[in-house]
Formats: sequence, C-alpha cells, structure tokens
Amino acid sequence: MRANPPYLSLVAAIASDVAEGRLRAGDALPSHRELARHLGLSPGTVAKAYAEARRRGLVEGSRRAGTRVRYIGGLDRMLSSAYPINFASSQPNPSIGPDLTAALTLVRRRQADLMRYAPPEGYPRHRAAGQSWLAMIDVQGPELDVLPTSGAQHGVSMAIGTLLDTGDTIAAGSLCYPGLMAAAQFHGIQVASVPHDELGLAPEVLDSLCRRRKIRAVYCMPSAANPTGHTMPLNRKQTLATVAAEHDLIVIEDETHRPYVNRPAQAIVTLAPERTVLLTSLSKVLMGGVRVGFAALSPELGKRLRRSIQADVLATSALDLELVTALIENGEAARVIGRRYAEAERRKEIAARLIGDAVAALPRRDGPYLWLEMPSSMSSEALTGMAESRGVAVTPASVFATGTDHGDGLRVALSAPVSDADVERGLKLLCEIFVPGKSRGSPSTWAAHY
Ligand SMILES: Cc1ncc(COP(=O)(O)O)c(C=O)c1O
Repeated sequence: MRANPPYLSLVAAIASDVAEGRLRAGDALPSHRELARHLGLSPGTVAKAYAEARRRGLVEGSRRAGTRVRYIGGLDRMLSSAYPINFASSQPNPSIGPDLTAALTLVRRRQADLMRYAPPEGYPRHRAAGQSWLAMIDVQGPELDVLPTSGAQHGVSMAIGTLLDTGDTIAAGSLCYPGLMAAAQFHGIQVASVPHDELGLAPEVLDSLCRRRKIRAVYCMPSAANPTGHTMPLNRKQTLATVAAEHDLIVIEDETHRPYVNRPAQAIVTLAPERTVLLTSLSKVLMGGVRVGFAALSPELGKRLRRSIQADVLATSALDLELVTALIENGEAARVIGRRYAEAERRKEIAARLIGDAVAALPRRDGPYLWLEMPSSMSSEALTGMAESRGVAVTPASVFATGTDHGDGLRVALSAPVSDADVERGLKLLCEIFVPGKSRGSPSTWAAHY
C-alpha cells in the first residue's frame, strides 16, 4: 500500500483530532512555521495541509489571520438544501404530512391549559399520548416512564449533557447522525469512532475500545440508522447490551427512524433499562416544525432528565405537545406512519429500477435513504459537487464521519422531494453523473443499499 504524502497525513491527523474532540470549534492551530518546526516538515507542506483542511471544511481563516477549527456544520448541511432537487435534507415530504384541521380544533379546546406553564414532564394526557406513540412503534416495557423532549436532538443533548461529564468520551458508529457530534461538541464530550459491520455498530470493536480507553457511553441508532440504513436484529442488541453492562456504559438509543422499520426487534431500553435512554422523534413522521419527541427510560433516569429539561427550557412546548397529542389520539399519526413507510418503500423501488443497471445491488436496508458506496476512483465530496452543479443535493460521507476510518459513500435521502416525479428526475441526473457513457448491464463499480 502506498503511504499518504505527508501533507495528507497531517490533514488526517487534524480530521481525527476534530472528530474525537481533541480540537474544538474555534481552537487556533499553530502557525505554518511553528508546526513545521515541531513536526520536522517544511512550512510549504503545512501550508498545503491547511489549504486542504480548509477545502474539506475542517478549518477556516488564513495564513495572516490565523487558522482556526471550524464549527462542524454537518447539521446545517443535513437539514437544509437550496437545490431544485433535494436528496440532502432528511425532512419528510410535506405533501403526505398530517391533516391538521381536526387536530387544531381539539387544540383550541385546551386554551386554558395553554395559557400557563406546563410541568417539564408535560400534562398527564401528553404522557398518555407519548405511551400510545411508543406502543405504535412497538416500544413497551412495564418499567418504563415516558418523558417529552423538544425533539430527539434535544433528547440526545439532554441525555449526554446530564449523564456524562465534560471531557468524557462517547462511542458512536464511524458514520453517524451529525447531531450527536454537535451535541457532544456543545457539552465538551469526545466522540470515539466504532466501525460498522453488516448489522450496524460492531460490539466486539466497542468491547476492545473500552478495554483500551475509558468510554462512558455508546450512542446507537438500531433502526434504519442515519445515514447507512442499518437495522440491528435482536441478537446484535443483546450483544451490545452485554458489552454495555460489562463496561458500565450508558446507552443512548436513538430510535428516530423506528417507524420506518417493519416489525423492529425489541428495544435495548427493555433489555437494559437501568442504563439506557431511548429517544424518539415526531419529526420524521409528522413534521419537523413540531419540536416533540418522547423518551422512554427508567423512572430514575427520567427524574434526572426531567431536571435537566426544566433547567434548559422549563418544559417542552405545551402547544406542540397538544397538537401531537391530538394527532395521536385521532389516529392521524398512525395513518401518516403508514404513508411514510409506503412512500419510502415505493421510492426505493423506483431507485432500484432507475439506477439498478448502473449500480450493483447490496443487501436491502431500512428507512428513507439510499446509501451509495463509491468506487475508489472518485470521492463522495467530488460527486456531491458535480451533483450540486446539476441542481441535485446529496450528502457525502464526511458529513457523518466521527473519525477517519470509514468507507466513502453518499446518502441520497428520498423522503424530502414532494413528488415521485422529482425523485425520478433527480435519480436520472445522478445516474448520468455516476456512469458517464456506461453501457447498460456492464459491470459496475458503484453499489447501493436500497
Ligand atoms: C438519527 C436522528 N436523530 C435525531 C434527529 C433529529 O430529530 P428531531 O427533529 O426530533 O430533533 C435526526 C434528524 O435527522 C436523526 O436522523
């Protein structure tokens, strides 16, 4: 294997220091001259490395003003897109969202309650709706409490901010929801990268990592993981729970995409309730504008999180909770889950039909994303640029990377476009970019998990 040129090794070192929290947003990097002297490199090599790190979005600034670590903007890139065809945003298609008319009438009847502060755990009817929501997505356990959060992202941030201390390390998959990185950076928590195998985050690697280094928690997405679509079977969850018990890890179980999985296996929180916080979200099913998620957790952990929520926002918005409660109670939430699931499956069929000849099929995965593995001749960043120049937004692996050791790939989020026709148009454009001039049926260097 050819060794990296020294400037790229330096870029890789900066990337892993940023990903693992040794370098924080705003930290100043040494001057070219200083670092060159320290590492025994030429100032030109350091300048080239800083320029490359700037190009990759790791650092910002200039030789004169000084170079600083950039805020990791993965969330910005993941949530919004100004391109005509949006395969980058993970928001659900608004045209099959909930009908709000009947629900808003129900909300108006609660005017008196909405005029005052609600308790941090919501009113009893909100928690009852949370229980119904959890039952709808098959999360049930007699020993579990339900606690509303202002979305799953808030839940992730509250859980790690409450249960971990500044300077602690949380393990997460090598390709991970960027909101975990943002929350970890906010709380001064380091993220240690764990590779995936075909079933998701690899427990034996987590186990050996815990033997080498103090790890306090593990973050996982057992259902239709963002961005790779992995879903863990029960035995993988059991092994993870065993490793977590052995090393006394807190488990943050982010089940935001659970509604996209048909018959998901029993949740980790029911296997290890004393150490697990399960988070859910209404954003991917109902709508992102309503900031509500329901956490399922033991009463002891619930008490700790309740205090943090109170310190942070006093209480989850009662107006949002009221609307979500109405949508759960009148059956609309269940109907929308059905529509979202059917749409994701249908759009994946469309993708298989349109790009299947140019892109080899890998085992099917769950959720509203395609995960495209890149041929070694091209980087996902380069392909993202090419797609954007044709008006199609997609998301490269670097946005999800917690370290440097991950395969290159591209996330194509099929949920945001409002019509199947837009999905078809976008996929056809992408296909032209992947395989210029490739004849149908010839061997492909691309591969996709649909
Ligand atoms: C895995 C995961 N967790 C959490 C979130 C954020 O959820 P919410 O909108 O409920 O904060 C997302 C959004 O894409 C996600 O993919």
